[in-house]
Amino acid sequence: MASLTIENLRKNYGAVEVLKGIDIEIDDGGFLVLVGPSGCGKSTLLNTIAGLEEITSGDIKIGPKSVAGLHPSKRDIAMVFQSYALYPNMTVAQNISFGMEIRGIDKSEREAAIQKVADMLQIGELLNRKPSQLSGGQRQRVAMGRALVRDPQVFLFDEPLSNLDAKLRVDMRTEIKRLHQRMGTTIVYVTHDQIEALTLATKIAVLKDGHLQQFGTPAQVYNDPENMFVADFMGSPSMNLIEATVVEQNGKLAIHIAGDGAGVTLPVTLDGLRNHLGNKVMFGIRPEALTDPEGADRTGSDIIQQDCLIEVVEPAGSDTFAVTHLGGVEAIARLRADAAIEPGQTAPLAFNMTKAVFFDPQTTARIR
Ligand SMILES: Nc1ncnc2c1ncn2[C@@H]1O[C@H](COP(=O)(O)OP(=O)(O)O)[C@@H](O)[C@H]1O
Ligand SMILES: [Mg+2]
Repeated sequence: MASLTIENLRKNYGAVEVLKGIDIEIDDGGFLVLVGPSGCGKSTLLNTIAGLEEITSGDIKIGPKSVAGLHPSKRDIAMVFQSYALYPNMTVAQNISFGMEIRGIDKSEREAAIQKVADMLQIGELLNRKPSQLSGGQRQRVAMGRALVRDPQVFLFDEPLSNLDAKLRVDMRTEIKRLHQRMGTTIVYVTHDQIEALTLATKIAVLKDGHLQQFGTPAQVYNDPENMFVADFMGSPSMNLIEATVVEQNGKLAIHIAGDGAGVTLPVTLDGLRNHLGNKVMFGIRPEALTDPEGADRTGSDIIQQDCLIEVVEPAGSDTFAVTHLGGVEAIARLRADAAIEPGQTAPLAFNMTKAVFFDPQTTARIR
């Protein structure tokens, strides 16, 4: 296993620049997830690490060594793709061992390696089957087995679960996390699914239009987003982003949100907002930080109750979501499953302002 360093990486297709100066560094044994909307450059970045695409400028290092000019076969990586093309005429065991055969590894060593990954992935009883006799999830396991048998410096995964149904995707996600914990391998994993990113990663790189928007731990990216794109993209339901005006109330800083009647005024403590006095900012609050007063986080030191008109109530099993209107947009509050709340009712909602974040609406950057 090895660390991975990406330095000011740029990639052009003809005149079009699709990676615009990416810097990422992960430690040996890290689990890096590249996440972002379709077309943002995730696969291109992964393919440059694999050596399947040449880079235009910058550098890629596996361990201390630059691999930028190296052929894919010389980089000591193994890759699992979204479409896990298995050889249809070969058994599972043959599919897994084929690469080793090519490299001239002898039979007893091959068999030991097959047994090891078969145990790891719980596919021992499938070894003599053909791919056509496997379910989608089993095929995906075999494709992973083919990569795992290599014992490379870095594993690369490109949306390996996106062809699976929802339940299986969640199971395999846990499986991959377990594998990583057990093997301590360095992994780079591409997904457009922000939940997958948050659950799997030790470090997340959020990409948009070939630009790195934020690089950090799942908690940093979720709780401390650098800009409105990251705030909105990570988390489900999305963070509420509400237009507000910075005002002074009895000599203290507050934000005013237009709404029914007088709207809502909330005291704020963030000093950086003073530079925006009299101006509009975007107030960001996650659904779980906007809740029924009984369900509010008891550790939050700055919880403010406000009456809000509840328009829609959506029970979701473990939680109930309530939709209200703030600053001209729908805002979603996440309540306890058994919160007594009815549509059409005006109910107190608790704003956990310790979790609030603010953005400059012009630049979309975080106000600190
Ligand atoms: N071979 C190629 N030639 C030209 N443009 C490409 C090529 N491959 C990808 N692109 C473009 O590069 C951008 C990033 O693509 P990709 O890395 O596949 O995105 P993602 O994996 O995030 O969905 C897209 O705009 C895509 O159209
Ligand atoms: Mg892709």
